[in-house]
Amino acid sequence: MTDLADVTTPVGLSGKVVIVTGGTSGIGLACVERLLAAGCKVSVAGRDEVKWTEHTLARHERARFISADITEEAAVERLVDKSIEVFGRLDAAINCAGTMPAGSPIHELSAEEWDKRCALNLRGMFFCLKYQIKAMREQGGSIVLISSTGADRAIAQGAEYSAAKAGVVRLARSAALENAANNIRINTVMPGAVMTPMLRRAWGENSAQRVSGAIPMRRVGRPAEIAGAAVWLVSDDASYVTGTEMVVDGGLLLT
Ligand SMILES: NC(=O)c1ccc[n+]([C@@H]2O[C@H](COP(=O)([O-])OP(=O)(O)OC[C@H]3O[C@@H](n4cnc5c(N)ncnc54)[C@H](O)[C@@H]3O)[C@@H](O)[C@H]2O)c1
Repeated sequence: MTDLADVTTPVGLSGKVVIVTGGTSGIGLACVERLLAAGCKVSVAGRDEVKWTEHTLARHERARFISADITEEAAVERLVDKSIEVFGRLDAAINCAGTMPAGSPIHELSAEEWDKRCALNLRGMFFCLKYQIKAMREQGGSIVLISSTGADRAIAQGAEYSAAKAGVVRLARSAALENAANNIRINTVMPGAVMTPMLRRAWGENSAQRVSGAIPMRRVGRPAEIAGAAVWLVSDDASYVTGTEMVVDGGLLLT
């Protein structure tokens, strides 16, 4: 299969400054890889700088790690400020930081677990949007939120995940409407099952085999395939696209 990082990149990316949350792992890391290959300057937001320094990309001259826990509003504000301080402006953001379903049925789900997961998967996305939009009000820009097919499909033992991911879609649509006249485009990507550390944690080492049978294309997705959609959405090729959801799921939502 083609290495997607080598494919011709969408237009207008070179020189753009982009924040990627959850950029040290999985889908976020694949976004960072593609953005750097396209000539962007990338603020890699994450919680673990040591983990980031293990990547070869950590030595890339256009990549800069910025520590941020997106469940903390002040940390998200600092992330945006720091990124602008380092690179001089903010053109785009791809918000990937998130977590998996709790794995409990509703009648056993504690309020603490609900709060913890929604604080990351939904409230954290609100903080990211809030400060990224503030930074883009004058010049415009483009923001992508990573939701999930779980926003549309029921998930047993994952109701809080499904609710939060559906919330992300609606949050993005309202934000897109509010900011269209300011030329800030806001879109959502809804991945199906993607082979990342999160999927391995949720389904175990044999997760690809366990999940593939339920997917019409009979395989799980690769992080680069989700990154391809997210990076296209922040590029100038998508200059008239806002308030939409791009489903990247091998046909899962057709079932
Ligand atoms: N892998 C899948 O099958 C799949 C499917 C649908 C949606 N998603 C979504 O895609 C996104 C990326 O997931 P992934 O599969 O790449 O998982 P991953 O675990 O590989 O990456 C998640 C990233 O988020 C970061 N993160 C977690 N909590 C954070 C916090 N409080 N502050 C800042 N960063 C934090 C982690 O450090 C990690 O870098 C998530 O929002 C996830 O819900 C994944």
